Amino acid sequence: MIKKGFTIWFTGLSGAGKTTISDRLVEVFTERKIHVEVLDGDVVRTNLSKGLGFSKEDRDTNIKRIAFVCKLLTRNGAGVIAAAISPYREVRAHARTEIKNFVEVYVKCPLEVCEGRDVKGLYAKARAGEIKQFTGIDDPYEEPLNAEVVVETDKETVDESASKIIAALEELGYIEPSAA
Ligand code: ADX
Repeated sequence: MIKKGFTIWFTGLSGAGKTTISDRLVEVFTERKIHVEVLDGDVVRTNLSKGLGFSKEDRDTNIKRIAFVCKLLTRNGAGVIAAAISPYREVRAHARTEIKNFVEVYVKCPLEVCEGRDVKGLYAKARAGEIKQFTGIDDPYEEPLNAEVVVETDKETVDESASKIIAALEELGYIEPSAA
């Protein structure tokens, strides 16, 4: 059961595991009859943020749009997962202020590991200069300094990372502890 609306705000490099952990969380939430809405960066960029690029200005616009939707849903008692790189600290701080019950989750993974995974083949293209302003290659990623949860996807399984997030939500009083 959801006790209060909340937003789980993932941040991390491309390929760090934001979407994978988000998918796993949705499975766990579904088992526990907790309904959540997901705003995934890649999906949002095909509709709400269609046409935006990857300049700082466009990324900030993208994040502010996602934060706006999270705010509306959260204040109506929903559980929300936002999974965008959100590389800039300042606009994440804006999201934190706008959205109440904000749970920042830093999906931490060394660049070399993300690049080694290269799930979408984008790191190779960025290294070849075919994609410019790629986060971690020729564009910045500002690590969170005060995330509620840090998951290290090069050291933990997806289930371990998901469990840490669930435990934090229980401790923060956003969901009922599991009966199990
Ligand atoms: S954010 O910076 O605005 O938060 P967002 O999460 O929405 O980024 O989109 C990132 C996704 O867009 C990546 O997972 C990747 O698939 C794709 N992408 C394409 N170009 C870039 C780029 N220059 N930098 C980062 N991601 C890119």
